[in-house]
Amino acid sequence: MSRESLLLDIKDLNIFFKNKGHKKDTHAIRGLDLSLKEGEILGIVGESGCGKSLTNLCIMGLLPDQSYATWEQFNWRGNQYSEFKEKTWRGLRGSEIGMIFQNPMSSLNPTLSLEYQFEEIFKLHRKDLSKSQRKAEAISLLERVGITQAEKRLKSYPFELSGGMAQRVMIATVMATSPRLLIADEPTTALDVTIQNQVLDLIKDLSQENKMSVIFVTHDLAVVSHMADRINVMYAGEIVESASCSTLIQNPSHPYAHALLNSLPTEEAIIHKAQLKSIPGQVPSFNQRPEGCSFAPRCPYQKEDCKSSEFEQMVKHKKTRCLYPLNSLQSKAGALHE
Ligand SMILES: Nc1ncnc2c1ncn2[C@@H]1O[C@H](COP(=O)(O)OP(=O)(O)OP(=O)(O)O)[C@@H](O)[C@H]1O
Ligand SMILES: [Mg+2]
Repeated sequence: MSRESLLLDIKDLNIFFKNKGHKKDTHAIRGLDLSLKEGEILGIVGESGCGKSLTNLCIMGLLPDQSYATWEQFNWRGNQYSEFKEKTWRGLRGSEIGMIFQNPMSSLNPTLSLEYQFEEIFKLHRKDLSKSQRKAEAISLLERVGITQAEKRLKSYPFELSGGMAQRVMIATVMATSPRLLIADEPTTALDVTIQNQVLDLIKDLSQENKMSVIFVTHDLAVVSHMADRINVMYAGEIVESASCSTLIQNPSHPYAHALLNSLPTEEAIIHKAQLKSIPGQVPSFNQRPEGCSFAPRCPYQKEDCKSSEFEQMVKHKKTRCLYPLNSLQSKAGALHE
């Protein structure tokens, strides 16, 4: 992959939580590498609490209080950032990076009409536009995200919108800033399936039309497999496997990726009302990781050295964070027929 085509290139990102007193800081995100080409859709999947949102908040420069990050490299559009300067990142996240959330009301102001909200955005980001151009642009953005009678809708307030509509409007307000990167953190979890698919298609189309990269976060592998080019699988603050979407779905190599795939309902299971396969156990919290591989206690393939203190050293240069990655035949058989 040529360096030039990369929009974002992060190497060895670590995020810590400070603890009160003299207790050691909690090492939350460990050694995360993440790169993203222009126009690429990257999916991040993993169970609740594994650090997906934390990673994205860091990319947005919005780390929670009491946490801090270190990295070997943080390259955005060819520029190296050695530290987050609040002012630099405020500029970036307002214009070059946009974020959408599960709850659109968290970014739409309930007390202001849509027209007013677009006005505020354009005044900041599109100073070149006249008042009438700003209105025309707002209408065009609403139409682009599938809002009918857009001119009339501009007079609406967010509470007058249905869930799916509010989600679309939020996307339109983010698109108003023409972001290079859209971070979508579980944006469709609260929507019903039909609306969810429409919003996913919309994000995919917008990415293609605008050559906008997308980081799409979800705990649902089925959702992300419809739209992502590449998928990072996260477990307990680490990326355990990063692969193209088709490779991950057909030949998952890390046992956790394999287990996530197996927990998706198959057509046959639905017909026979079979019980869904869940992954036994829970993701360990960041300060209670076991020694060795964090997934080992839940892993059906674990061996003695997975739990050894040498694990880090042994796994260091492996593509998948596993001493015994599944070979393609094994994982294919598992993914499709287990
Ligand atoms: N001060 C702290 N010290 C240690 N851990 C913390 C602290 N604050 C938050 N955490 C942990 O960080 C994790 C946050 O992870 P994050 O929100 O990124 O998960 P996620 O993968 O986005 O999960 P979800 O799918 O539920 O949104 C939580 O498990 C939380 O317990
Ligand atoms: Mg989250």
